[in-house]
Amino acid sequence: MNIPFVDLKAQYLTIKDEVKEGIDYVLENTMFIGGKPVDDFKRGFEELYGVDHCVPCANGTDAIFIVMKMMGIGAGDEVITTASSWISTSETITQTGAKPVFVDIDDYYTIDTSKIEAAITPNTKAIIPVHLYGQMADMPAIMEIAKKHNLKVIEDCAQSHFSEIDGKRAGLYGDAATFSFYPGKNLGAYGDSGCIITNDGDLAEKCTMYAKHGALVKHHHIIEGINSRLDTIQAAVLNVKLKYILDWTASRQRIAARYDAALQGVGDLVTPKLRANGKHTYHVYAIRTARRDELKEYLKGRGVNTQIHYPNAMPFMPAYDYLNLDKSQYAMAKAHQEQELSLPIYPEMTDEQVDYTVSCLKDFFEA
Ligand SMILES: Cc1ncc(COP(=O)(O)O)c(C=O)c1O
Repeated sequence: MNIPFVDLKAQYLTIKDEVKEGIDYVLENTMFIGGKPVDDFKRGFEELYGVDHCVPCANGTDAIFIVMKMMGIGAGDEVITTASSWISTSETITQTGAKPVFVDIDDYYTIDTSKIEAAITPNTKAIIPVHLYGQMADMPAIMEIAKKHNLKVIEDCAQSHFSEIDGKRAGLYGDAATFSFYPGKNLGAYGDSGCIITNDGDLAEKCTMYAKHGALVKHHHIIEGINSRLDTIQAAVLNVKLKYILDWTASRQRIAARYDAALQGVGDLVTPKLRANGKHTYHVYAIRTARRDELKEYLKGRGVNTQIHYPNAMPFMPAYDYLNLDKSQYAMAKAHQEQELSLPIYPEMTDEQVDYTVSCLKDFFEA
């Protein structure tokens, strides 16, 4: 059997006709920038997600940058974020002129809230938690700290569409949240795209303006901005996918439950630890083992494709040498980068494929 890590083709085949119809509408109307598909996506996402404002933009990286800029974050400021993420979260902090301040992770692989207060200085302006792999950081705790220290909170939801804690969705706790619709994400377009969500109308308007060269009305530039538009063809794809995203999320959860049940007590494997009252949406099904590299090779030999998220946590990247960090502060992130392995998971994955993956894992540890 050959099990891909993700199978975008399998999903495409289930929505092919609708996607072609959506893209055809854009082509036939030569509506290449903005237009109905983008407006429909904005409204559709607001409605489905349960938020007042969605600001579509070009990708999830721009989304984080735009929000920070419009919150006035810049030179001299510090922004606290997690040691374990994709680089977008921290590179955008640097791009604003501010300094990223990394905090180690907890057992759920998200920012360790017990260590945030020690990282706060008079220059701290915001916290950017990342809901890594589809499991939310401890948002009730983060909001309490933010309130106490008068800090802004931007949730990086690139990997956590529709995740929850206490019945409240990722992105609805903080001042604003950002999403990526990169093709492999739980809600993924067929190219780059992203958005910002917020219930703050004033912030939404500023972000909309900044993403459109600083103008809400064409040729009337209130400030200098950037060009960060949601591509109309991507919006057409996303509009189709919005109809199915909740079902696809439920499928991911079913597959994860099958892995969870089958993998208890297998070798030294650690399956994802779930937050009480949380709803994990499994963008990534991350296991841990001391024999990670050996296991990865073995699975590859048996046709099971895996990935590592991520081989280097942020404080260990050459990109952050300039911060002269004390790396001993990031023991959890370091252990994680050495032991993490992401198993195949995607909504169309069959029970047979999951069971085959499990049997390979068991064969490895029982040999
Ligand atoms: C945690 C996280 N933040 C931000 C991003 C950036 O998103 P994009 O690739 O759409 O710029 C990604 C995905 O790539 C991500 O995984």
